Amino acid sequence: MAAAADASAERIRDVNTRYHDLAADSYDAKWGIDFAETGRAQVRAKLEKALGGSGGPWERALEVGAGTGYFSLNLLGSGLIRDATATDISPGMLRALEANAAELGLDVETVAGDAEELPFPDASFDLVLGHAVLHHIPDLDRAASELYRVLEPGGTIAFCGEPSAYGDRFAALPKHAAMVAAPLWRRALGADGRDGGDPDYKHPLEAEVDVHAFAPATIHGVLADAGFTAIRIRGEELLSSLYGWWLRTLESTAVPDEIPDRWRLFAFRSYLALQSLDRVVLEPRLPPALFYNLVLSARKPL
Ligand SMILES: C[S@@+](CC[C@H](N)C(=O)[O-])C[C@H]1O[C@@H](n2cnc3c(N)ncnc32)[C@H](O)[C@@H]1O
Repeated sequence: MAAAADASAERIRDVNTRYHDLAADSYDAKWGIDFAETGRAQVRAKLEKALGGSGGPWERALEVGAGTGYFSLNLLGSGLIRDATATDISPGMLRALEANAAELGLDVETVAGDAEELPFPDASFDLVLGHAVLHHIPDLDRAASELYRVLEPGGTIAFCGEPSAYGDRFAALPKHAAMVAAPLWRRALGADGRDGGDPDYKHPLEAEVDVHAFAPATIHGVLADAGFTAIRIRGEELLSSLYGWWLRTLESTAVPDEIPDRWRLFAFRSYLALQSLDRVVLEPRLPPALFYNLVLSARKPL
């Protein structure tokens, strides 16, 4: 039984490496990743949400599953971290990160590696962070022990953008509603329909790389077992995520060049307005489990 679990964990790591190597070149364009002031402000706000207030600057930060550098490069650019090390299981993603860093004139060390076996000595960093990575890791207990090991006593971990179990299920509703409304919407905009436009379409490997959607209590238990204290888990994006899925689904049904710019501007602005509503009104009041994403932080005791 243990051998079977190991084999499937090995496959998940291998598929994650191959899938993200393939995705690396088009990753920033696909996800609208920005390294100018908009991206910096987004990343600072997410980190602040995870920490429950502003923090830093940190002297030695490690990003796990750093991808093309969305978090590390924007935090370096904001002056919130001084020395940045980026690790990822995908060498292709790290090459894209290096290219982004060179373009921005930022200095970052990159080391390919698995979050379950971090290639760094004990107590190397005062901040260990990540964005949208924990849900790819087969053995979270092992990864949490590694995060703890490489952190210096008194150091902080912060992770953002982890899918919540309920959030994942709620997203089915706006997708369904948008498919029903799509013909009317396209007619109103004068856009032709597109064959095969499916926001749920996943590259065959993509279906295998997402291995968790979390209940907050599960993450809390994993971190507490690893020895972390001051564990803080919050939810992020409820109305904006439902609306975002509705928009993305509608847009996926039309020929992209035929969607008018005025619609795209309206969609972007209204999405940002709902994000603010979530942040100011809902996130402080509702249980984290209801939201689309989870953000978290914790401390290694002194
Ligand atoms: C969804 S992407 C997020 C990338 C980046 N953090 C961002 O927010 O743009 C997930 C990243 O985690 C990496 N990853 C997946 N499994 C991993 C593992 N076991 N150890 C380290 N990195 C991993 C992938 O290669 C990929 O770059």
